[in-house]
This record gives sequence, structure tokens and C-alpha cells, in this order.
Amino acid sequence: MSATIIDGRKLAADTRAEIAAGVAALKAEKGVTPGLAVILVGDNPASVSYVTAKEKACQEAGMYSREIRLPADIPEATLIDTVKALNADPAIHGILVQLPLPKGFSEKKVIDTIAAEKDVDGFTPVNVGKMLIGEDCFLPCTPHGIIKLIEVTGMDIAGKHAVVIGRSNIVGKPVAVLLSRKGAHANATVTLCHTGTPDASVYTKTADIVVVAAGRPNTLTGDMLKPGAVVIDVGVNRIPDATKPKGFRLCGDADFESCAAVASAITPVPGGVGPMTITMLLWNTLESARRVAG
Ligand code: GUN
Repeated sequence: MSATIIDGRKLAADTRAEIAAGVAALKAEKGVTPGLAVILVGDNPASVSYVTAKEKACQEAGMYSREIRLPADIPEATLIDTVKALNADPAIHGILVQLPLPKGFSEKKVIDTIAAEKDVDGFTPVNVGKMLIGEDCFLPCTPHGIIKLIEVTGMDIAGKHAVVIGRSNIVGKPVAVLLSRKGAHANATVTLCHTGTPDASVYTKTADIVVVAAGRPNTLTGDMLKPGAVVIDVGVNRIPDATKPKGFRLCGDADFESCAAVASAITPVPGGVGPMTITMLLWNTLESARRVAG
């Protein structure tokens, strides 16, 4: 293996220390405690684990955290009313509805209900639109964290060829926008590959940066890479494994061993992108509280 492992846990810890200092200053100077509400509907095990991690991170940063757990069989109107109440609650500066929602809920309707100024996930059409045209907004957490992870490798993104594999609204599409926009830590030439791409390796073989967010193990293998590429693996796949206490192990969308042999730097799973997603959520929540505090 020749690649440097990009330590998402360390970057997250350093950034969270900065955020905690910002939270303490805001409390002391303005008497405002940033508050994040996280809504979890149902009991999807991966979602439960994400929500628990978000709540813990919030508390560690000195923020107020409110977790709202609702059963999967509640009417959609109850969820919408819960979001509306949080929109109007001055103790709450950020609202996150954990996705995916159980079957039967319209994610679009629920997300559209979140007030844009509390949309710390950056998922509402207002924030997505502002990001697209380069206006000040809440950037989506995983794509924003990915830019930070590329930055710590020392690679200058400007002028590079970046390939994104996956076109989800949460990761693929927004990270392609952030990498290609004009300005600092961006200005890449971006190719967006997806399930309609016959052979992604045609593009990855000339890529300086590959972001893989396909939701499928082994989507990216070492033979698809240009030597020295930076690989950001967004995948979190649970592979059944009886030797593990939880009965599964996590793996990303990249085949770690073969990619690490060719890349100059690569994020591990776990310990790469995941910690940065939560960190950028705290970042946005602090920013939201600062705006309210003036
Ligand atoms: N599900 C997976 N990732 C995310 C995220 O970043 N935000 C929300 N709300 N749900 C998710």
C-alpha cells in the first residue's frame, strides 16, 4: 500500500474543537446556545446509529440537542406539524429529518416544510438553488466535508479532473456542483458518472480525484485509477460477518486494498467521510445560531 490514509476522525476532532470554541463564545457574548433538533421516524438501525452519533457530537460541542423519535406508523401530517413547531421554536437553530423516511412518507413534502434558515442539512430547494448559483447558503454536510477532506491532502482542487460516481441529491449531485464552482477549494473539471454510465473506468483512469458515492461495494477498484489519484469513499455498506460482535462489518464503495495501492491518498470506511458529515452539521448549526444572534 502506498496511499496516505486520510484521517477523517482527526480532521473532524480538530474542526469540532474550533466549533466548540465558537459555541462557547456565542454563549458568553450573546447568551445564545445553538440548538439542533433531529427527527427520526421509525427504527432503521443505520439511522438510529447516525442520529445517536449526531446527538452525542452536538452535546460534546456544547450545543443544545433535541432528539424527536416518532413511530413509523404516524400520519404524515403529524410529522409535518412537528417540523412546523420546530420552525417556530426560538431554541432551535437547525432541523434535521433523518432520511430515508419509512415507506409512505413523501420526503419531498417533509423537507419542503423545513424553514430554509433552519435547514442545516442544506436539503431544501431554496438552499440547493442558492448553492447552485453560488449564493451564501447552508452547504450540504457530506459534500462540504468531502471538500475539506480533499483539502487536507494538500492537493489543490483547481484545474484537476474530478470524477464523481453516483448522482444522489444528498451527495453525488451537490459534490459535483461544489467541486466545479468558481472560487477557492474548487474550480475542478467534473465528470459525473452514474448507473447510466456504461464504463466509469473510462473517466476514472484520467481522474486526479475520485469521489465514489454509489452505495455499492467494489464500485471502484485499483485498476480503474490513475496513479496518485485522491480517493474519497462515501459508501457505508453493512456486510454480514459472524466474527464481529454486531454480526456485520462496514465497507465502503471502493475496494480499499487495491485502490490504496494506486492512489496517493484515500479515506477509510469507517473513519473517513462519516465523521466529517456530522462535523459540518454542527458547523451549519453554529452558523445558523450566529445569524440569529446577529
Ligand atoms: N441520511 C443519510 N445521510 C443523511 C444526511 O446527511 N442527512 C439526513 N437528514 N439524512 C441522511
